[in-house]
Order: sequence, then structure tokens, then C-alpha cells
Amino acid sequence: MNIRHLLSASDLDRRDATAVLDTATEMAAMAGREVKKLPTLRGKTVVNLFYEDSTRTRISFEAAAKRLSADVINFSAKGSSVSKGESLKDTALTLQAMGADAVVIRHPASGAPHRLAHWIDGTVLNAGDGTHEHPTQALLDAYTMRSRHGRIEGLKVAIVGDVLHSRVARSNVHLLHTLGAHVTLVAPPTLIPVGVTGWPADVGYDLDAVLPGVDVVMMLRVQRERMTDSFFPSEREYARRYGLDADRVRALPSHAIVMHPGPMNRGMEIAPEVADSARSTIVEQVANGVSVRMAVLYLMLGGVK
Ligand code: NCD
Repeated sequence: MNIRHLLSASDLDRRDATAVLDTATEMAAMAGREVKKLPTLRGKTVVNLFYEDSTRTRISFEAAAKRLSADVINFSAKGSSVSKGESLKDTALTLQAMGADAVVIRHPASGAPHRLAHWIDGTVLNAGDGTHEHPTQALLDAYTMRSRHGRIEGLKVAIVGDVLHSRVARSNVHLLHTLGAHVTLVAPPTLIPVGVTGWPADVGYDLDAVLPGVDVVMMLRVQRERMTDSFFPSEREYARRYGLDADRVRALPSHAIVMHPGPMNRGMEIAPEVADSARSTIVEQVANGVSVRMAVLYLMLGGVK
């Protein structure tokens, strides 16, 4: 793989994306072994720089780097000099001075990873920036689709809910397009971004009309922490029109899978019994995340061309 940073899902062409998924398959095979560690990144330092809350992504990157024998430094903005007003640039220069080979960054500002990439010599991996992108989430979602359906090319994927605030949706639209899947975004008109006409995806407003024709339905979290306005009348009304409940699941083709990146608002965008059903890949997505992030670190830092 010949890219230095992974800032957007569109940094990956089909060959690179497929290389990540294939390498992740090999990494997953290793997770079943008694000794889960590879020596590949011995002597390399990976810094997890998290300015925004995270459970899955942070733990997943940490587990991935450790399984490849890298030294891992976890930095969370809370409790650091960031709360004393230190800028991202000064923090970057500190990391640079410590010899970070890779910095995994999550930040509430869209574009922060791009800025960081100008200031440090190492590799920058975007672990979610504002409402912009979350490329490794898209990779783990693609991996999950491929392992359940055997392919990505030609799959029909509905991405449903708060598309406006979702970096997961944006990254998935780019990557799935690169890999030959067909995406339909479904949301209330208030939660569809203005620039969506430029995205390689269809847009629909009626969930019930879309469900019978999909192979994958991906539910998005309603991101209340990013909402400055009221985008829908009430939670009940949202759940009634855009929530995935047991009745709607019955309208899906029998082979279709249900995805969610987590964290979930159970009872709002997804009913608890759907989240916990056999069709749901939610827990699998988390496990796949470690393999996929191992693959990304391995291909980008391991010197494998
Ligand atoms: C997502 C994120 O942080 O963008 N979660 C994740 O990384 N698993 C989605 C979300 O917060 O809703």
C-alpha cells in the first residue's frame, strides 16, 4: 500500500481496500490462536490521540497495535495539557519529539487529522473527525459485509438515520462505491446533508419502501450531542418512521443483515430485540474492527508494499 496517511475512505482505491480486507482475514485467523501476537511492529510507537469520547474505536486500535507488538501510548484530551489550552499543533510537536511512528486521532473538528498530517513526520490515521470521516469504521463494515455475504460488488446497502452528523455514513458511501456496492441513504429530509447530490448514493425518505430490496441495512445513531436544532418532532415519531423494529425486519429479504456502528440508542433507531437478533452483526463488527485495524497498521507501518 502506497499511502502515507489514512484520512478519508477515498484515500483507498479498490486494490488498497481489497488488500486491507484480505490482510484482515489473515489477522482474524490469528485471533483464534493461543498466542495472539505478531512481532511485526516491534520497536514502533503508535499514539492514540483522542479528543472525543470513544469506547470501541480506541480500545480496538490499542488492541490492534499491541497484537502487532508496537509500543502504544494512549492520550486522552481530558486530564492532559489540552485542558490548559494547549493547541493541536503544540501537542503534535510533542508527539513528534517523542518519535511517534503513527498517530491515531479522533477529534470533534472535521479536518483535524489533515492538519496534524502537516505537522508530523509519521503516519496519521483518522479515527473519526467531527461529522467528516471515519475510514477504519467503513473498512470494518465492508469486512463484515464481505464475510457474511461473500462479496461486496453488487450488494444493495441501505444506510439509515442521522446521515447529516455521521462520519460513518460518509466513509461508508465512499468505500462501498469504490468496492462496487450500491448505497441508498434513508433519512428524514432534515437529516440529509446539503451536498448529498455529489455523493455516489441514492437518497430515499421512505424506509418501508427500501427494506424489501436490500442485502444490508445499516442503522445510524441519532447524534444528539451534535444537534443544535430540533431535526424531528419527537423521539417516538422518529422511531415510528425510521426505527428498525421487528415488524420492519420481517420485510427484509431472509438473507439480509442488520448493522450498527455503535453506540446504539436502543428503542430509538433500533429496537432491542433487533439489535440482539441473529441477523444483527453488531458484536461481530466490533471483533472485526481489531482485525481490520491490525491490517491497516501492518500495511501502513510494516513496510509491506
Ligand atoms: C461512531 C463514531 O464515533 O463515529 N462510532 C464508532 O466509532 N463505533 C458512530 C457514532 O458515534 O454514532
